[in-house]
Amino acid sequence: MRKPIIAGNWKMHKTIAEAVEFVNDIKDKVNNTDVEAVICAPFTLLKDLKEATKGTNIKIGAQNMHYAEQGAFTGEISAPMLKELNIDYVVLGHSERRQYFNETNETVNKKVIKALEEGIDPILCVGETLEEREASETKNVCKEQTEKALVGVSAEDMKKVVIAYEPVWAIGTGKTATSEDANDVIAYIRQVVANIYGDLANEVRIQYGGSVKPSNVAEIMNQSDIDGALVGGASLDVESFLGLLEF
Ligand code: 13P
Repeated sequence: MRKPIIAGNWKMHKTIAEAVEFVNDIKDKVNNTDVEAVICAPFTLLKDLKEATKGTNIKIGAQNMHYAEQGAFTGEISAPMLKELNIDYVVLGHSERRQYFNETNETVNKKVIKALEEGIDPILCVGETLEEREASETKNVCKEQTEKALVGVSAEDMKKVVIAYEPVWAIGTGKTATSEDANDVIAYIRQVVANIYGDLANEVRIQYGGSVKPSNVAEIMNQSDIDGALVGGASLDVESFLGLLEF
């Protein structure tokens, strides 16, 4: 059984005071242990979020990290730095990082390897642009991004990787893939994983992301291959975040 995982990606939002208030507002209401609730937040919030969620079921993730252990990389954060805070997850290869910060399949791969080595579970993002979709390249792009990100990842480690299928054209646009379409691509990504890892692919959780909100989350979560959601805008508001968890 794959445990559903609903993760908020706060992107570049919230101050420490706002983040702590958010957690204080939700923590007594997040008690369904059948669903994993995760908040992926800016680096500055992580320590306080870990503190504020102590004793709850809410897990905390970062949104990026560097693949080096340490070094002269001004402005970067390493896996050991995240580990020191007991961070549970790290989002890697988000399309916004690929688009604006030169993230490549190769750097994503190095980061996935490093996160796993440090005991932080990666949420690996893949997904096609509108242009690629219109050129019928969706599956090819997802295959390439998935395969390249997983080079050198052992079967044992693969069990800890969460994949998020996020079509770039659906992010922050209010446009969602139809749930059938998203399920079709996600089933295909699972097949790509199965080609490398065999039956283990049935244990790997694959989320959908892109304009998920309380009003469409149930339909998305009802699909056979979709194991969760990675949510931007609709994860920022308390009622909305709780609504997502109650799919
Ligand atoms: P939205 O939910 O705002 O479309 O963002 C999706 C996303 O990028 C999550 O990582």
